[in-house]
Amino acid sequence: MVAQLLDSFGRVATDLRVSLTDRCNLRCTYCMPAEGLAWLPGPELLTNDEVARLVEVAVCRLGVREVRFTGGEPLVRRGLVDIVSRTARLSPRPEISLTSNGIGLTRLAAPLREAGLDRINVSLDTLSPDTFARLTRRDRWNDVVAGLAAAAEAGLTPVKVNSVLMRGTNDHEAPDLLAWCLERGYELRFIEQMPLDAQHGWDRKTMVTADEIIERLEARFSLVPDDPSRRGSAPAESFLVDGGPGRVGVIASVTRPFCGDCDRVRLTADGQVRNCLFARSESDLRTALRAGADDAELARRWQAAMAGKLPGHGIDDPSFLQPSRPMSAIGG
Ligand code: GTP
Ligand code: 5AD
Ligand code: SF4
Repeated sequence: MVAQLLDSFGRVATDLRVSLTDRCNLRCTYCMPAEGLAWLPGPELLTNDEVARLVEVAVCRLGVREVRFTGGEPLVRRGLVDIVSRTARLSPRPEISLTSNGIGLTRLAAPLREAGLDRINVSLDTLSPDTFARLTRRDRWNDVVAGLAAAAEAGLTPVKVNSVLMRGTNDHEAPDLLAWCLERGYELRFIEQMPLDAQHGWDRKTMVTADEIIERLEARFSLVPDDPSRRGSAPAESFLVDGGPGRVGVIASVTRPFCGDCDRVRLTADGQVRNCLFARSESDLRTALRAGADDAELARRWQAAMAGKLPGHGIDDPSFLQPSRPMSAIGG
């Protein structure tokens, strides 16, 4: 029997999120400072072979059924297509997805699809190229929009769009973003901003909440909770728009946490297992891997890494502390 990644609250992780780099070609204000961050040194990054090996251990020995590659920005990682194709050759074959800012997809969507990528989630927070340039500090709106079209064209479907709303910047755009995505057949999800930015600028009092987002959307659309309103342990609550078939999702990580159903585990680009986005500690698999540990030993260490998984993120607890790694270095 295949072992499981079981935590002490009875949750089983079957969804592995692998960060392939902490670097990014955008500088979203809610994520990192204009000057970027101190990137992980090259020798600390897992090589393509090391990533493939750990993904194989997770899938073939630990019951992981879905593998999502993230970043930073995973499209800037050399070897991404090769990593995807090696993942697609595993048995049992996991579902393979990518979370990206979309830049570079015009070139990479088709090769990624051919390599075995099943689907993609792309971030787009605004329909205004000017707002985009202010929010991401880069003038790349057209590249993202072209990347989205290339993803749909290549069959990386359903194409999902992730939007983080920022008060006073793009929160008024919620209905326009939805209309734009519905027209193109993209599945839009609004994400509540979480305290994971490198600058520690997040503020519970000013963040745009899921209730507020739904209220803004309902000014233009009729929303009915989908049945079921969440698919399994997916973070997004889904709504049928104007009777369907179009849908919109809201990821209310802060105001309606879904930690009780969490089925996720993360591997950072430098080979650390994080049992939660908000974990206060990590388990080092890279050192064991480089010291020659066999697959059984790596699997055992990975299982042990799940033991300390907390019941929830505790953002509203007075004692809450933001994790020392920002989201760009953990993986979305
Ligand atoms: P699918 O629904 O399978 O496409 O995946 P997803 O929505 O989990 O993927 P994506 O990478 O697009 O993540 C979207 C957002 O969900 C992230 O930016 C986070 O805000 C949120 N999210 C993803 N995983 C977690 C998690 O483990 N905990 C919390 N609190 N939020 C998460
Ligand atoms: N809170 C919520 N979502 C965030 N993202 C980046 N930083 C944050 C944050 N602090 C989003 C990106 C992308 C996804 C992977 O996570 O916009 O869509
Ligand atoms: Fe890059 Fe994503 Fe951070 Fe934006 S949110 S700077 S796209 S890693």
